[in-house]
Amino acid sequence: MSAPLVLGIETSCDETAIGIVKGRTLLANEIASSVQEHARFGGVVPEIASRAHLEAMIPALDRALKTAKVSLKDIDAVAVTAGPGLVGALLVGTSTAAAIALALDKPLFGVNHLAAHISVDYLTHDNPLDPTIALLVSGGHSSILQINDITSSVTSLGSTMDDAAGEAFDKIARVMGLGFPGGPAVDLEAKSGDANAINFPRGLTQAEDWRTRPYDFSFSGLKTAVARYLESTPQYKRADVAASFQEAIVDVLVQKSLAACAATGIESLVIAGGVAANSRLRELAEERCEKAGVKLRIPSPLLCTDNGAMVAALGSLMSSAGRAASAIDLAASSSLSVTTVRV
Ligand code: KG4
Ligand code: ZN
Repeated sequence: MSAPLVLGIETSCDETAIGIVKGRTLLANEIASSVQEHARFGGVVPEIASRAHLEAMIPALDRALKTAKVSLKDIDAVAVTAGPGLVGALLVGTSTAAAIALALDKPLFGVNHLAAHISVDYLTHDNPLDPTIALLVSGGHSSILQINDITSSVTSLGSTMDDAAGEAFDKIARVMGLGFPGGPAVDLEAKSGDANAINFPRGLTQAEDWRTRPYDFSFSGLKTAVARYLESTPQYKRADVAASFQEAIVDVLVQKSLAACAATGIESLVIAGGVAANSRLRELAEERCEKAGVKLRIPSPLLCTDNGAMVAALGSLMSSAGRAASAIDLAASSSLSVTTVRV
């Protein structure tokens, strides 16, 4: 059988995204973002996001089909983000995907947004080097995972006790007046700063933490430390604060990921999710993985933040592995566990 042509639909947050892949070849990756509509509120407003998905869905789908030079009837399988995410936003995607799958009489895969973030690597690098350790860092999640086969199960080794890494970037950017979303703004500001200017705390890296929760994260102490520094230092240099804050986050992310590789004996690390677009995280991970003899894979920055290609990629992997499809009336789940790959 030739490689399956898979349509992927992503609507878990503020991006209405459609991806089309054939096997591991990316044919289209359309993204309509409502981020500007949320910017003045300093965060994503669920009701605005749902409405924007409804308006953007059909035009985005049409653009993707045109770019891929295929028609809807050529599609072999439909994949859609079933969770986690904003429930009203997810429902726009799952009902669209179910309608298409039903009309075409093709399988429907309701997949986990987080597993999809990791699967997108399949489009850029060799076949997944299973098993692998994955560092998943987005606006809503931060986890270290062990993956033996991404189409069937994911094991969580640790996760954040409070904020997600992306959330920490967004909150600190806000107090520094850098706007929303904060990650890209901090990344840019940090380029002209000194990462060693301020020694901000590295959460959960005391000896006791390494013994009891080696793969968990905590960013709330760092957030407080940055806020205190800004209050007590009226003449602060914004670029130095951005660079030092960013260094504190990425240092811990890389340290803990490599500790998981060492403890499990797995010599492969995938970094995925919106924060994986961070230039300093990419640089530091490359440096330290090379020293540790760990093979590092990070998708290109455009494929790290939310997109439809990642959903199509996971659908394509599932279809090729002969995995069972989801029910046509699958339920969207706002709090879908990271360990559930398909609903
Ligand atoms: O995966 P994603 O697009 O959406 C979620 O699933 O949450 O991740 C969005 C998060 C936001 O918090 C954003 O600030 C962060 O990823 N982000 C970055 C960068 N680009 C996006 N964080 C740090 N540096 C970046 N370059
Ligand atoms: Zn995401």
